[in-house]
Amino acid sequence: MKTRITILCENLVGRLVGSGEHGFSAFIETDKGNYLFDTGSGHSIVANSLTLSKDLKSIRKIFLSHGHYDHTGGLPEVIKMSGKVDVHGHPHIFLDRIHVIKENEKETERFIGIPFKKKYLEFLGANFILNTDFMEVGKGIFLTGEVPRKTSFEKPDPKLFSEIDGKTTQDLFLDDQSLILDTDKGMVLILGCAHSGMINIIHHVMKRTGKEKFFAILGGTHLDFLTPEQLEELIKSLKKIEIEKIGVSHCTGMKAAFRLQQEFGDQFFYGCVGSVLEV
Ligand SMILES: [Fe+2]
Ligand SMILES: [Fe+2]
Repeated sequence: MKTRITILCENLVGRLVGSGEHGFSAFIETDKGNYLFDTGSGHSIVANSLTLSKDLKSIRKIFLSHGHYDHTGGLPEVIKMSGKVDVHGHPHIFLDRIHVIKENEKETERFIGIPFKKKYLEFLGANFILNTDFMEVGKGIFLTGEVPRKTSFEKPDPKLFSEIDGKTTQDLFLDDQSLILDTDKGMVLILGCAHSGMINIIHHVMKRTGKEKFFAILGGTHLDFLTPEQLEELIKSLKKIEIEKIGVSHCTGMKAAFRLQQEFGDQFFYGCVGSVLEV
C-alpha cells in the first residue's frame, strides 16, 4: 500500500505552511483513498488543509485516538466539509474529561473532553462506529482497540481525570487508540497522545498483528510527565524494537523529544505542521 501522511494540526509549525495549535491531526493518503486521524482542536484544520492542499471533502473515514478536545475539536468543521462520514472511536470518547492545573499554589480544573454532543455530530453527518477491541477499519488499516497496561514505567498522567457515572476518577484512557497502516516497508503506527503508554501500544500492536517491523512511529507520545528514570526505561525498551523512523509531535514534550533525538539520531524527526512521511 502506497501511503503519504501529512501532519495537518500540531503544536509547532516548521515552515510557512499554516498555523500551530495545541492539537493533533494527520491526513492519510493511500491508493485506496484518504483518511483523517484526529481533527485537532478546531482552530487550524480547515485553514491548514487548504494551505497544504489536502481536500477534507475527500476523506472516507475519520479515526479518533481519544476524546480530548485537542483531537476532537475540529470534528464539526471537518464533517461540514466531508458530508456523511464514518467516525471510528472507542465508546469512552464521549466521557467528561478534566485537567487539574496547579498555578500559583491554586488548583484549577479545566474541561478538556470532547466539546460536542454525539447527537449534534450525528446531525452534521457523523456515523459513529464504536469499538473496544482491535479492529480492521480498511484494507491493511487497523485500530488498536483498548491497550493492556503492562510496563512498570508508563503510568497514567496524575493530572488527568474522567467522569464515569457521576464519579470523578483518575483517567484510565480506555479510549486511547492508535492507527496501524500495514505497508510493504513495515507497519506505520500513528499515535494520538499515547495515553496508554507508547511501549504498551507497540507491544500490543506486535501481538495483535503478529508483525514486528515498524517503518515509522509518529504522533503524540505524552512523555513530559515521566521521571528521567522512567524516560530512560522507555528508551531502553524502544531500542529493542525494529523501527526505522520515529517522528514525535504534539504532547511529547521538548525534553523527551530532545532525548529521543540524541538516542535515535537521523532516524528521529519532529512531526510539525506540514511534515510529510512517505512510504
Ligand atoms: Fe493531545
Ligand atoms: Fe490527550
